[in-house]
Amino acid sequence: MHVELYERMWMWASGGLIVAFLAVIGVTAGMQAMSPPSHIETVDPAALDSHPEFGNPGVTEMPDGSVKAVVVAATFFYTPDPIEVPAGRPVTFRITSSDVIHGFQIVGTNANAMAIPGYVSQFTLTFDKPGEYLITCNEYCGIMHHGMVGTLIVREGRP
Ligand code: CUA
Repeated sequence: MHVELYERMWMWASGGLIVAFLAVIGVTAGMQAMSPPSHIETVDPAALDSHPEFGNPGVTEMPDGSVKAVVVAATFFYTPDPIEVPAGRPVTFRITSSDVIHGFQIVGTNANAMAIPGYVSQFTLTFDKPGEYLITCNEYCGIMHHGMVGTLIVREGRP
């Protein structure tokens, strides 16, 4: 089959772009800990109040020394707020929304998840330094979206 020179150049160029894009996805996923949500876990957004976990959101210390932070996002706040966790220990965040899609970004870290009604977003992060972190909603969720912020307090971990 005869293919014109310019046609061939464009085919190679677009093929090269596809390879480059796939390489970027591979590198960020493998080396910068960026990943899609870890698992598909559903929850009834209309019955969060009576849910054993999300009915009483908060921070729990687990027997193995890790920490679980259960968070509910709603227009236009997070519960609990502030979220207090210890430094130097793995914190597993479990997040959902009771109404519309919200964001849950911990500024200054690579924590950035969506809070989706009906689903649980989960990720684990260890905070090395104590301090106060800003949590922002980065999904447009309504008239006060810009004001939807929370606070994460990382306190000195116990030895
Ligand atoms: Cu919640 Cu934007």
